[in-house]
Amino acid sequence: MNSLKDEIQKTKTELEHAIKQASNEESLETIRITYLGRNGRITTLMESLKKLSLEEKRLVGPLLNDLKLCAESLWCERGQVLMHEHLCQEAKRQEHFDVTVYRPNTALGSLHIYTHIIRQIEDIFTSMGYARADGPEIETEYYNFDALNIPAIHPARDMYDTIWISDFSNMLLRTHTSPVQVRAMEERGAPLAVFVPGRTYRHEATDATHDFMFSQVEGLFIDKNVSIANLIATSKAFLSALFEVKDLAIRVRPSYFPFVEPGLEIDFSCPFCTTGCSLCKKSGFIELMGAGLVHPHVLRCGGIDPDIYSGFAFGFGLERLAMIKYGINDIRLFHGNKLSFLEQF
Ligand code: PHE
Repeated sequence: MNSLKDEIQKTKTELEHAIKQASNEESLETIRITYLGRNGRITTLMESLKKLSLEEKRLVGPLLNDLKLCAESLWCERGQVLMHEHLCQEAKRQEHFDVTVYRPNTALGSLHIYTHIIRQIEDIFTSMGYARADGPEIETEYYNFDALNIPAIHPARDMYDTIWISDFSNMLLRTHTSPVQVRAMEERGAPLAVFVPGRTYRHEATDATHDFMFSQVEGLFIDKNVSIANLIATSKAFLSALFEVKDLAIRVRPSYFPFVEPGLEIDFSCPFCTTGCSLCKKSGFIELMGAGLVHPHVLRCGGIDPDIYSGFAFGFGLERLAMIKYGINDIRLFHGNKLSFLEQF
């Protein structure tokens, strides 16, 4: 009988140890079968009780019962702990975001048309040795107007329907990218070759070809002995590359901008037809940019001596160029966030 008592004690110690060690549901199930199963150790001990006398049964029976109850409750508790751990791990695993997981049929985003057209323009100008320059969209009256030879009393200010910043008398949303001409001269000096894509603003009613927020690309080239011929050759090379047309022709008309002298407008031969189409309004030419030789006043404001250096500048509407290239008929689509439009680029 004593050996049975010892056996009960030993079983209890081993069981407690085993349950503590169980790290998953399977090992816990093995423990249940080993101790509480039909041929398990506790069941076998219970069987052996039958062989004992009544006296002995009274002594050992309660011990065995305790062992069985203790085994069952330890087993249950451990099961709950393991289940909780498992759930926590699972929640953690789902929280973890694996960026390398391959997801087929996922809708991919596309580059915005601005990004596309600016990258093309950037490629062409950088291949010609131009650097990209930037300037602030909230600009001072000085850079937007005065330094560009447009003093406050100048009638040319009427050309630019300016959005002024109400709390600051001399601040505005730049009406063109030309203020970056003077900023680039100040920052980089001469000789200089920069192009400036950027957002511009005008207080205007919107329609299919006008928006109060649009973009321009400015070009500025300064060196010794720069002439109109360089301007024409550069615009021809740029437009031919952009439209992938070999014998694109340039047409120059006299125009007026206070910051260039002489001032010009540059048109290019329609890349889509030879006899006249709706895009070139049957004229064979498309009007695109303002340009000219940089006015001496502007060079001086930029800290460059007009007796040594000369330069040309040009500016055109980025949306207008993209609309011609891609056959887009409404400028408002650029900021419309219409997926059916944006997805095409
Ligand atoms: N800034 C002018 C405009 O917005 C365009 C231009 C740029 C004209 C450079 C001449 C030279 O109308």
